[in-house]
Amino acid sequence: MKEIHKIGIFTSGGDAPGMNAAIRAAVRTALYNNKEVVGIYHGYQGMIDNTMFEMDSRSVSSIIQKGGTILKTARCTAFRTPEGRALAYANVKKAGIDALVAIGGDGTFTGAEVFSREFDIPVMCIPGTIDNDLSGTDLTIGYDTANNTVIDAIDKIRDTAASHNRLFFIEVMGRDSGSIALNAGVAGGAEAILLPEKDTAIDELIDLLSTALERKKSSMIVVVAEGDKNGGVSNVAKRVKEKFDYFDTKVSILGHLQRGGSPSSADRVLATRMGYAAVNELLQGNTRATIGIRGSTIVNTPLEVALSKKELKLNEDLVQIAKIMTI
Ligand code: F6P
Repeated sequence: MKEIHKIGIFTSGGDAPGMNAAIRAAVRTALYNNKEVVGIYHGYQGMIDNTMFEMDSRSVSSIIQKGGTILKTARCTAFRTPEGRALAYANVKKAGIDALVAIGGDGTFTGAEVFSREFDIPVMCIPGTIDNDLSGTDLTIGYDTANNTVIDAIDKIRDTAASHNRLFFIEVMGRDSGSIALNAGVAGGAEAILLPEKDTAIDELIDLLSTALERKKSSMIVVVAEGDKNGGVSNVAKRVKEKFDYFDTKVSILGHLQRGGSPSSADRVLATRMGYAAVNELLQGNTRATIGIRGSTIVNTPLEVALSKKELKLNEDLVQIAKIMTI
């Protein structure tokens, strides 16, 4: 095992609340172990553009409570090419970086796995995405905060929905994952939840809403995940309205506000534990793996394993419970 002297750290892909807490933990754990740290701006793009800076303990002061990522982020297409990666490695080498901590989602993990193999550089990943759609962990950094943001929005929409006797369709993030929709839908008391992992026919949804109306519900909320297969929230609302027009119907797309905000206590602690673990794993000679949490235990999983099989995160019990809670 080659000794590590300098660790490069970056965030990549969609930002998530708690990424800063993970950066802070990784930087301070490295410094505690007398290692140098280099921050890389804009993820893989920053490696290619050579936008890097030396970090010290004060570089991460007062960031634990901040949303977004102080290291900035990007989705980098150039890194998908061998030429892009060669350029990135040349800059990483020039900076004296001999190990990497990557914080992000599955695109980040894929890039890290390829890069580490191609150039034989140790890398440890930390799952950071609001979507909670990564294998090797029960939870990703940012998911808890995003759920709380969405619940807050649903609560507010419910106030106005109830006052006007309206039917609201609320779109939440999750291109391939219904985790936020299901959790926030249950916590926000939604009458129906549409998920990318489940096909919900519009007629089935109309039956459900009609039954709710017969049960004297005077306003309703339907949570629609971004990746639902019915063609988007506006289309769902339009198709429901064509056959079920009892209610004044409104659409609300929560969008990117779900990605921002101060991280919850749970995300701050999770991120701190993961940042600490990532550096310690590297220093113990582990590489090409992702940190995760199972129950309350921090674990790590080889990237090859985590990337080979998509873990089904949808809690089937909760899907059933959600239906019962709508009566
Ligand atoms: O990866 C998180 C996520 O928020 C997805 O739920 C969403 O589809 C996507 O990012 C949007 O990403 P961007 O704003 O970068 O296009």
